[in-house]
Amino acid sequence: MPVTISLINMKGGVGKTSLTIALAEFMTIEHGLKVLVIDLDPQANATACLMDLEEWKRKNMRGQTIMRLFMDSFQEWQVFSPQEAVVKNASNIRGGVKGLDLMPSGQELMDLQDSLMTVYPDEEGRTDLVFLLRNAILDMVQNYDIVLIDCPPSLGLITQNGLAISDYYLIPVIPEALSIHGIPQIISRVNRFKRQTGASLQTLGLVATRYREQNSEHVSNMADLRAGSQKKGYQRVFEVFIRESSQAANAVDFRKQPRNLREKYGSGRTYSEYQQLTSEVLYYVGKPVYATDGGFLASAGSGSRE
Ligand SMILES: Nc1ncnc2c1ncn2[C@@H]1O[C@H](COP(=O)(O)OP(=O)(O)OP(=O)(O)O)[C@@H](O)[C@H]1O
Ligand SMILES: [Mg+2]
Repeated sequence: MPVTISLINMKGGVGKTSLTIALAEFMTIEHGLKVLVIDLDPQANATACLMDLEEWKRKNMRGQTIMRLFMDSFQEWQVFSPQEAVVKNASNIRGGVKGLDLMPSGQELMDLQDSLMTVYPDEEGRTDLVFLLRNAILDMVQNYDIVLIDCPPSLGLITQNGLAISDYYLIPVIPEALSIHGIPQIISRVNRFKRQTGASLQTLGLVATRYREQNSEHVSNMADLRAGSQKKGYQRVFEVFIRESSQAANAVDFRKQPRNLREKYGSGRTYSEYQQLTSEVLYYVGKPVYATDGGFLASAGSGSRE
């Protein structure tokens, strides 16, 4: 049984995709886990970071992307096949990472999201629509240790399909007013979704992204976020901050062909921050955490870090 985590935030540009990619790469390369990334975002940024554009175009032409799954809900017959859609050995690191697979997003998913809402305006009357992804891929994901879902910046039907198959959701947040403002709304919308669908989804917490320690607003907002975590329902703020850095910004370019994680994320802080975040996430979802020398560090069963 995999552990499935959706990365969500209604706010755009907070680092959902960057974190999804980095977590997937660190979990696979440094922890030897088998990871599937599902790109639910019509912008297809995770797809563009993890696979070759020409190959993606061919997948689109054959209708073997996540978009086809949603289109099938309009039709009597089913075209989408998870086995055909999945891209094996994704990532630009050494031409592809063994054990890291991608379920690519599809062109026109954006239009489709609008169409789904027009055709089925009464979401509550069609709760089956939030289980399209779950029903289609539940068998196939059993082969993975971890499934990471990169969601679009909204909590609409497509994101809800991600939540419906998830054990946890993780909220990346830039510690600035506009980004923090939406957190209570996210928590309450997810809680409502859980009541409506019976999903047994848990919050994994907040991750501070694009953090600038010279910015006093960032520093004080982080303190406030940490202080309020239990009361406000997001469980925790991860220990590590992902700082604003050019390595993080540049890492997402698929045309570069780094040989390893250090070449991709640099030898400085970004590399260590993503490495630490990966360990924290694995710890909290109950997967054993290994040090970079292969030694065992901790698992959730072996003691609490709270
Ligand atoms: N730690 C960081 N330092 C500097 N730039 C970053 C960092 N993390 C992400 N970025 C950059 O910020 C932009 C937004 O990041 P990303 O695409 O990961 O966010 P997102 O939440 O997925 O956005 P969207 O809501 O549009 O899907 C990108 O240009 C990315 O390269
Ligand atoms: Mg994104």
